Order: sequence, then C-alpha cells, then structure tokens
Amino acid sequence: MCGIFGYTGPRKNAGVIVIKGLKNLEYRGYDSWGVAMRLKDGTLSSSKEVGKIGAVRNEDFSDESSLAIAHSRWATHGGVTKENAHPHFSGDQRIAVVHNGIIENFEELRRELEAKGHTFASETDTEVIPHLIEELLKTKGTTLHEAVRAACKRFVGRYAILVMDRTSETLVAARTGSPLIVGVGEKEFFIASDIPAFLEYTRTVEYLDDGEMVTVENGAIRFQNIETGEERAKRLVTIDWTIKDADKGEYEHYMMKEIMDQKQTIQRAVHQDDEQILKVAKAIETCLGCILCACGTAGKVCMAADYFFSVVAKRHVNFAPASEFPIYHHFLKPESLIIVVSQSGETADVLEAMKVARQAGSKVLAIVNTEGSSIARAADFTLLINAGPERAVASTKAATGQMAVLLLIAHAIAGKLNVGRTLLLEASGQINDMLNPRYIEHIRGIAQKIAHHENMYIIGKGWNYPMALESAIKIQEVSYIHAEGFAAGELKHGPIALIEEGTPCIALMGNDEFTADILSNIMELKARGAYIIAVSPVRHDMFDLWIKVPDAGAAQPIVNIIPIQILAYSLAVLRGKDPDMPRNLAKSVTVK
Ligand code: M6R
Repeated sequence: MCGIFGYTGPRKNAGVIVIKGLKNLEYRGYDSWGVAMRLKDGTLSSSKEVGKIGAVRNEDFSDESSLAIAHSRWATHGGVTKENAHPHFSGDQRIAVVHNGIIENFEELRRELEAKGHTFASETDTEVIPHLIEELLKTKGTTLHEAVRAACKRFVGRYAILVMDRTSETLVAARTGSPLIVGVGEKEFFIASDIPAFLEYTRTVEYLDDGEMVTVENGAIRFQNIETGEERAKRLVTIDWTIKDADKGEYEHYMMKEIMDQKQTIQRAVHQDDEQILKVAKAIETCLGCILCACGTAGKVCMAADYFFSVVAKRHVNFAPASEFPIYHHFLKPESLIIVVSQSGETADVLEAMKVARQAGSKVLAIVNTEGSSIARAADFTLLINAGPERAVASTKAATGQMAVLLLIAHAIAGKLNVGRTLLLEASGQINDMLNPRYIEHIRGIAQKIAHHENMYIIGKGWNYPMALESAIKIQEVSYIHAEGFAAGELKHGPIALIEEGTPCIALMGNDEFTADILSNIMELKARGAYIIAVSPVRHDMFDLWIKVPDAGAAQPIVNIIPIQILAYSLAVLRGKDPDMPRNLAKSVTVK
C-alpha cells in the first residue's frame, strides 16, 4: 500500500533508479505516482501522473541527478488526482516529501500553517509535512534532520515519510507503523517500503524500527530515536532473496509464476529446525489459551490450522480476524499465546492485534514470509515460511507455505513431527506432478465454460470449509466475479436459495469421512440446477466437471487450493483483468 523509494549516492541517474524501483513496487497496489529529483544545477524537477507507471520510459528520467524520491499512491485522503499524487512540496519548493500512512491530526496542523500564511495545493494529509518542515527550518541554525524530527513529534498516526532537500544531497526518513528499509551500497543508500525496489543494486539492508528516523548525508548514515534524539547502532543484514526470486521470469503474470513456485515452496516451508518447531509445539501445549490471528487469506489459513490442531493434535485453538482481535482483550493473560500469520509481515491490523496482546503481557509467535518485517521483529518468536518474495496481490504460495508450517506444528504437538514432515514432503511431490501444462490447460478449459457467470459458490466440509472461503477470496479479488464460500452443511439453511439453473458451484473434497455428507450436499445443489465442478481425489457421477487432486490426507486443503488458484487466475485473464494488480487492493495493507 503506497510505495516509497529514494536514492542518494554517486550515481548520476537517480531519476531512472527510482522509476525502475517504483516499477518493482507496483505489486503493492496504487492509483497514481510521482517522482522528484534534484538536478545538477540544484533545481527540483518533478512529475506526477494518475494511473499506472508500467508504460513510462525510464529514459525520460535520465537528467543528471544523484538524489531522487518516488512514490506510488493508494488514495486515502483526497481523490485520485495529479494534485493529490506525491511528492508534495513546501511553499518555497525546497522540501519534497513522499508519505505512506495517515497523519490523523492533519486538519489541525493545516489550520495552524494556514494561519502562518501557507497555502495548500492538494486535499491530502501529506501536504502538511513539507510545509511544517519549511516552517521549522525558519528557526536559524536548524538542520533538515532536526526539522524533520521536530515535525514528526507533532504527527499523530501511523506513517513512513521520506524527505529530500533541494539544497543538499541529504535524505531523511522516519517511520511509525509503516515499513521503511535502507539498502546499503558502496557510499550509496536506497530507502524504500520494500526490498524489491533496490534488489538490483544491493542485498545489504538496515531496518528502521518504529519511532526511528534515518539521515543520509555526505555518504554517512545515522539512525536516531525520534522522541529522544538518541543515536541507534544498526546491524547490517544480508537478504537471501535474489532478483530472479523477485522476477516473473517466463510467465506473463507474477500470480502464475507464484502458483508454479509451489512446486518447491512446500518443501522450503517444511525445512524448519526441529528444535524450534518442538519449542513452538511446547508453547502451544502449555499456554493457557491460544488464539490464531491474521487477515484475508492468512486468516483462512488460520481457520484451516484450527482443524489441523483439532484433528491432528487434539488441541483446541481459537481464530480471530486481526481487525476483530482487540475485542478479545478481556480474555488475554500473560499465559496466553497469540499466533499471528502474515505474508508481508506489515499488515496494520495484525500489528495492532500484537499491540493489544503485548498490553496483556501475552506472548506472540509470528509465522511470516518476510524476514525483518515489522511483525517478525515485534514478535517474541518467529518462524519463516521461506516462500521467497510474493508480489502478486493474490496470495498463493505464501498461503500454502503457511498451512504447511502450521500442519507441521500440529504434528509436533501430537508427538509425530516426522510423520508430519513425511506427509508434507509427499504432498510437495504430488503438487510438483500436478502443476504440469496439461493440468493447467484442463482448468483453463473449465474457466472458459464459466467465465461469463457473475455468481459462483464454493462448498467444503472440515478443513475444506476454510478453503472454500479462501477460494471465494481468490476468485473475487482477481476476476471480480461474485464468489462465496460456505460450509457445505450450511447450504440448506439459506444460501441454497441463490442457486438457479446453471449456477457454477465448486465442491472441495478429500477422500475422507466427509465424502458421504458432501455428496448429499452436491445432490441438493444439483436438484436446484447447479453446475457442479468438483475438486476431488475421486470421481463421482454427479460431477459435471472434475478437477482431479491427489489424495493427500491432512495436507488435502493445501493440495485442493492450488487448482482453485489456477482457476481464479484463468478467470481473471479470460475476463481481461490484470490478476497481479486487482482494482482497489494493495499487496500489503498498512492502514487500519
Ligand atoms: O501480508 P498478509 O498475509 O498479512 O496479508 C493479509 C491479507 O491482506 C492478504 O492475505 C489478502 O487477503 C490477499 N490479497 C488475499 O489473496
């Protein structure tokens, strides 16, 4: 959600660097973009546009420049217009700012600045930032980083800001709640919302923590606590992601590339240190109340884990969507354990839930994909799923990796860690076999038959129920078809009224004790004219179309969601939608 990227260093093509980097942050979701660079003669050059950056020529930003900032905006305050796009400037055009998050007290600050003669060109909360910095710089002897620090102390809200000054090569950034990472090269620095922006230049990073600011000046870097001004020493971290991991390679879309990555990612997720998994299992066994907590797809993963813990480990856990979690504060104790699950590690609702857990003294275990992310660093203990960068907005390989780790933990609680690992490695092999061109073509053919429908329903029972909910998210977000998931047995309590002649209904099945029940539910649907597409290891006569999946035991939900990911992708492409960048959505949701 909003991409920030800035460069300062010896290179002379800062504009091109930030434009290319911004293109690598496109997956975050945005509706307008902009760039500002300091030219050789000390003047500021900027451009802003509504729409996508994809077609923009990098060469158009090749003026000689060693300092530039860029931004992709996902509108919150003020409509999607060129005026509201970032960067925003001070009245004297000295300061340029890009911003992610929300300055909640912007109206009060704006009134105060207007009273001092400042005029504003946009409807955004962001524009108060450069004007306030300009005002603070008026005090003789105030340096840029002092002015930024003083400004930050006035802001209420969650934000990440990046500030450049036309009169120097200095970059100053600060964060409270929204991510910022510094890429460190040879006497050069990159400051971005996410690593893919600068992966081409460096894999060495320093993380900015909440409440911290960073100043890059004359080839030196300095981290400080915003509140106290105290300097902070940072550890240089080497990222093991490569450009190839973050690239879509031979595929037309990241979503398809990431679906195909699942040939390897289950295996990578299972590659965990036994000692750590047993430690986590012990913590779940001994805690007084365990709550799984996440958003969207990661939330559906948690719901599946609820079944894993119940069936495999005979252990009761609860699930709460992160946005609802604060309501649970009455039940939290220091002995409670909260397990948060997140691909990005930056989801604001999850971070907020962690804050609530912390206030109660509860322990937090994080299962994340992004090393060094805010959630990973704020947790008491973190397990990485090792899926590599996931860039398509629709979560695919991260979801199956998260399920694999949770299923492994459930086995560890049951004292069957090795059984769990073997089961998952077998599932990984089955997925590898499944993801062949004929299989994908078969699903594409099914998509062709149903792509014109505006409504479809998905049913599942047991651990296939959360996968029915997840299937609905996948189809909705990329194809814009109205899809809804139900517990199969719930149909007759209401939703069956929606079924008409030819309505596509997808049934997710395993070869398990629920087969008889779900076949009855399918019969009920068929009797009302539904067109049945079954994802099942076994074929039954009542299916109109069959997507064969391997019989994977407790790993069935992991296996079953993969053909649905392909179906959702195919529906999006057939309907002319871009599956990587669905409308109104962002990859990491850093606002509440
Ligand atoms: O990065 P996170 O896993 O915390 O993100 C949570 C959700 O925003 C995310 O899963 C979202 O629902 C996906 N777009 C679904 O594909």
